[in-house]
This record gives sequence, structure tokens and C-alpha cells, in this order.
Amino acid sequence: MSIWRVQGGYPLDGSLTIQGAKNAVLPILAACMLADSEIELTNVPRLRDVEATLDILRHLGCQVQRREDVVAVDARSVTGCEIPRALTGRMRSSIIFLGAVLARCGQARLAMPGGCELGPRPVDLHLAAMEALGATVRCEDGVIVCAAPALTGADMTLETPSVGATENAMIAACAARGITVIRNAAREPEIVQLQGFLRALGADMDGAGTDSITVRGFTPVKRVGWRVMPDRIVAATVLCACAAAGGEVELRGVCPDHVRSVTETLTAMGAQITAGQRRIAMRCAQRLRGGQTIITRPYPGFPTDAQPLMMAASLRAAGQTVFVENIFTDRYRHAAQMARMGADIRISGRVALVTGRERLTGTDVLAEDLRGGAALLIAGLGAEGETVVRDPGHIERGYEGLDRALSALGAHIKITE
Ligand code: EPZ
Repeated sequence: MSIWRVQGGYPLDGSLTIQGAKNAVLPILAACMLADSEIELTNVPRLRDVEATLDILRHLGCQVQRREDVVAVDARSVTGCEIPRALTGRMRSSIIFLGAVLARCGQARLAMPGGCELGPRPVDLHLAAMEALGATVRCEDGVIVCAAPALTGADMTLETPSVGATENAMIAACAARGITVIRNAAREPEIVQLQGFLRALGADMDGAGTDSITVRGFTPVKRVGWRVMPDRIVAATVLCACAAAGGEVELRGVCPDHVRSVTETLTAMGAQITAGQRRIAMRCAQRLRGGQTIITRPYPGFPTDAQPLMMAASLRAAGQTVFVENIFTDRYRHAAQMARMGADIRISGRVALVTGRERLTGTDVLAEDLRGGAALLIAGLGAEGETVVRDPGHIERGYEGLDRALSALGAHIKITE
């Protein structure tokens, strides 16, 4: 259990380079299974989910080296096609290996990663995509068993634009004979980045970023290097932290386009934001104003991962802010913890109504998921006194040194075990 101690009342001031994107590097690491040469990835963040993914690659027989932000993966020595519960249980998104293992080995056995703190995490769309490509799929005592001696290209339509199912389909389709079209595909920047990486590996693929992706074939190329894109949700986290604490921050190495829905919302709430080529500057001199309705949608809509973060930034805004969470069924667990700090949040199904309060009071709170935990830290930055966030390890799944990063901007945050 990590204990994060946050002293409220200190505005942020300074510049920060944003870490590599967790949700981009995880599918890219799985896709390394397709290569028959060493791959070097740079700007890889130091995260628990990344370590869990590297352990899965090692378990499957890959050679994996890490030094600083560089990870080298050599999948020429793959021996296994089975991922046990001990490994899938450490990381909810281990399902991202399904398409890669199936493509590489012609079969895959993955222990179900289990439900998640955001509600059930079904994998039906992932399994349907594999079946569309000609795999047989069955579940035996919590283990997904897939077999496909030969994958065949297919024209498939995802029921919902699932990020993970789109990624699994893209990766598996690289090993399919014939053309695959993935319709109603997710359009997130991480999907575009995965397409770029697969192309670098030798895939003939286009359409990522739109709702229709076409995969025509795959001719492996030798020696591939790839730099992981910046993490747009970490960028949103720092912006919301500045909204809660006040002050002035500059984010470097970011793609302003990727966080446009977040910066537009903060600007409407009264923050001054300017964006450059790969930088965002934000100044928050006075109390923000409410009045916004924030509806989470698939990209380019407002990202569900930023919903808890924006809620934390709205707790002391003047007026009411409405949230509608359309992506996950149970993503307001942070609200009860914020209420312990004096926040006024009323929830009815998918809708949360925040009535801004002049002041919040620091107290003991519990992180129950990754972004909810980060949101509690943000709320603590704007509260009076000390907020103690007890975290069973969620926050460090997705944030590399968030305490050091925010402390370098003037926050008073300390972690103890
Ligand atoms: C990815 O999760 C991200 N994780 C999530 O970020 C993010 O919240 C989510 O996309 C939505 O943007 C990674 O990329 C590792 P989905 P994923 O499949 O792929 C339902 C974070 O904090 N669904 O797009 O699991 C599902 O229940 C994490 O970094 C099915 O019904 O999300 C959800 O309601 C949290 N059946 C909706 O679709 C399926 O087979 C969207 O899920 C798959 C999903």
C-alpha cells in the first residue's frame, strides 16, 4: 500500500515533459510477437503495467532487455502460447495479447483478466473479431482457448468501437491470408500509433484514425526502431492538476490535438490555454467557473479516462458541472472519496452533478482505480490541509513518478510505503 501525502494550497509553476503513452506502448509490446528480428522501443514509460507486459513477453519466450526508457524485444525465440492467470491477473489489459499470440502461434490460451474496478470488462468483441478471422474460440474454466491453423482475412464490424478489440483485430489480421476490413473501429490516437508501428514491422495497412481500417498483408522487415507517443491522459492529468491548484504550467513533448476536448473544456471553465507545435501552456489565475456538461465518448469525444480528473478540477469551480459517463458502467467510485473531502457530487446512473464548493478539506481517502486515484491527488492539491491517499498500487500502473513530476512544479506531495 502506497501512502500519498498531499499538502493543499500550493499553486503549480513550471515546465514538464510528458511521459510515453501507457495505452500506446502496451499493444505495441504485444505486437512485437509478429516480428522476426530485434525491435527497439524508446520513450517507454516506467510503469507497473509495462513491467507486467514485459513479464508476459518473457513468459512466452521472448528476449527482453530494458535500460532507461529503451526496451529491446526479440520474439524470434517464442516458445509458448499460454498466459496463466498469475500474469493476466496483474494487468487487466493482458487481453491485448490474444491477437498477437494467435497470429504468431496459430493458437492461444489466455486466463481471463477478470472484471475491473470500472465495471465488468467483457471481452466478447475481442473473441468475435478472432472468430471473424477464422479462429475457433471457447472458454474453459476461465481460460480463453483460441485456435486458428490459418487466419483468413474478413470484413468485420465491431458492435462498439472498442479500443482493445480494434487493436487485437489489427494485430491478428497481419497474419491472415487475404484482406481484412475492420469497421466501426476505434479512432483513438493509440490506434493510429499502433498502425504506424505495424507498418514499420512490414504491414500493408491503412485507415487507422477513421472508423474503417484495412489490412492487406504483412511482409516482416528487419530491425525496427520505434518511439512511443506522449501520453495524452497524463497530459490531461497535469492540466487538471493546474486547474485545481492554480498557477501556470507548460507541457512539453505533447500533441495538443490529442487533448483538444480537455483543453477546450478547461478554457470554457476560465483557464487560459495556448498550444504550440508540441507544447501546451496553461494559466489558471482565479477560481474556475462551472456550467459545463462533460459527456464521455469514444475519440475524438471527451475521453472517459479524463472524467475523474476533470471532476476533481470542477469540485471548487463556481457553479454546477454535469458529467455523463457513457463508456464504463462503474466509473464514479472516486466521487464517494471526494465527498469525504467536502465535495458536493450527486450521482444518478451515468450522470454526476457536481456543485462547486468554496473549499475542500484534506482527509484520508482511498484510490480504487488508476485514474480515480490520480483524481484524488488532484482534489488534494486544491484542498485545505493534508490529504492522505491510500493506494494499493493503482496510480503507479499508469503514472511514472507523478509525485516527483508534480513536486517539481511546486506541489507538496510525498509517497511513503
Ligand atoms: C482502453 O481500454 C484503455 N486501456 C482504457 O484506459 C480506456 O478507458 C478505454 O480504452 C476507453 O477509451 C488501454 O488502452 C490499455 P474498450 P479497453 O474496449 O480497450 C466495452 C486507463 O485508465 N467492451 O474501448 O478495455 C467495455 O466494457 C484505461 O488507462 C465490451 O462490451 O476499452 C467498455 O464499456 C482504463 N466488450 C467499452 O466497451 C468487449 O469485448 C469500451 O471499452 C470490449 C469492450
